Amino acid sequence: MIQDPAASPNSAHTTTPDDAFTPPAGSSLWRRDFLLGAATASYQIEGAVAEDGRLPSIWDTFSATPGKVLAGDTGAVACDHYHRWEADLDLIDNLNFEAYRFSIAWPRVMDAAGRPNAKGIDFYKRLLGRLKEKGIRAFATLYHWDLPQHLEDRGGWLNRDTAWRFADYADLMSRELAGQVDGWMTLNEPWCSAYLGYGSGHHAPGLANVRYATQALHHLLLGHGLAIPALRANDPGSAKGIVANVGRGTPDSPSAADVRAAHLFEVQHNAWILDPLLCGTYPQDLFELWPGAEPLVLNGDMRTISAPLDFLGINYYFRTNVKSDGAHGFVEVPLDGVERTQMGWEVYPDGLRDLLTGFRDAYDNLPPIYITENGMASNDRVIDGRVDDPQRIAFLKRHLAAVDAAIKAGVDVRGYFVWSLLDNFEWAFGYERRFGVVHVDYDTQKRTIKRSAELLARFIAERRTRGTA
Ligand code: FCB
Repeated sequence: MIQDPAASPNSAHTTTPDDAFTPPAGSSLWRRDFLLGAATASYQIEGAVAEDGRLPSIWDTFSATPGKVLAGDTGAVACDHYHRWEADLDLIDNLNFEAYRFSIAWPRVMDAAGRPNAKGIDFYKRLLGRLKEKGIRAFATLYHWDLPQHLEDRGGWLNRDTAWRFADYADLMSRELAGQVDGWMTLNEPWCSAYLGYGSGHHAPGLANVRYATQALHHLLLGHGLAIPALRANDPGSAKGIVANVGRGTPDSPSAADVRAAHLFEVQHNAWILDPLLCGTYPQDLFELWPGAEPLVLNGDMRTISAPLDFLGINYYFRTNVKSDGAHGFVEVPLDGVERTQMGWEVYPDGLRDLLTGFRDAYDNLPPIYITENGMASNDRVIDGRVDDPQRIAFLKRHLAAVDAAIKAGVDVRGYFVWSLLDNFEWAFGYERRFGVVHVDYDTQKRTIKRSAELLARFIAERRTRGTA
């Protein structure tokens, strides 16, 4: 997510939680069919970037470019998960997680000519096989930002052809892994790929032009729409969806101009992605913010993009308070005295509830929802072999309560994945920001279970016996 790497973290307002995770009686979280899982992504944990035929990705290139990532960190080793995956899956199992969301590294599984790379594919087959043995549901994201560099060299997501290359990749993976995946997710957060990658330059490939962003997004969504029928044909037993990051925008004052600014913030963050997927149109307000940035859309594209989904993944982290910029846009007005995380992001659970109910009202055909990411970074340290993370415990409880509130208000939410299983490579912030419920010592690769994970695990175990149907 976007954040100035120079901004100083502020976690002064740590909340002290009760030392238990147990939701109140009557909470939907007691339902045994509400899935509780953990999430990761390939480039953030795997390492082994040149092993077994893996090709370079845009994040290898970007992180090797001086000044792009805090402290010059790269994903070259990360959590060394490529070599430690068995122990990491044991960890998931010991923490009682019922589902695991991970991503497949496109540059690991296909060569530059689009031919399968058996060694890379085998890695994911072994991983999925072990998840099945353990009875853990598998949610596989096809694209969590690691575009093969050779495709970027041909224009990346600015090149319409990349959408077809993505569909080929989805076709190959769903043939190879058919029957092993419970839920396929085509793209993770296309907003970030398009806006941060091509619009602001904070993420790979580092281009900065809003017209590039809208065109890149169109091609990303087209790739998604082309992939869905391939996934359906090859792996009919699995659910198919996409993952969108969403942002809550609130007005700094009740003035009509500020209310409009908050609306435009949500158009830019949410409707830009969700309208084409769910309604087959781009929101016209977007081009009030970005005049002249309409993407080139060919006949039939919007129908392809709005192919029906089995579920929608929602990633939520924080809200942004905004006011009118005096013209057609919004500017952020950071609030004082609010709780923030190590990222400087405001802790605002109501935003998750309000967005979910808002989407239910806005889209007649809103598919069932999984919260595919939610969590926070804190500067966690191992002290006497333990990691206490009280701010995270309170954060998770409050956001789970917000999910329960949305369910009670009639939104069909089927599960929740904490971001993240492990501390990992947090994109432009490198290893400094720790999002894991498991601590990673990057010198030794030792994993230490944080208190938040312990409490979550205890609740999941308790739910197995005391939960409701
Ligand atoms: C999301 C990304 C995820 C992680 C979290 C903190 O935008 O999908 O990889 O970096 O933010």
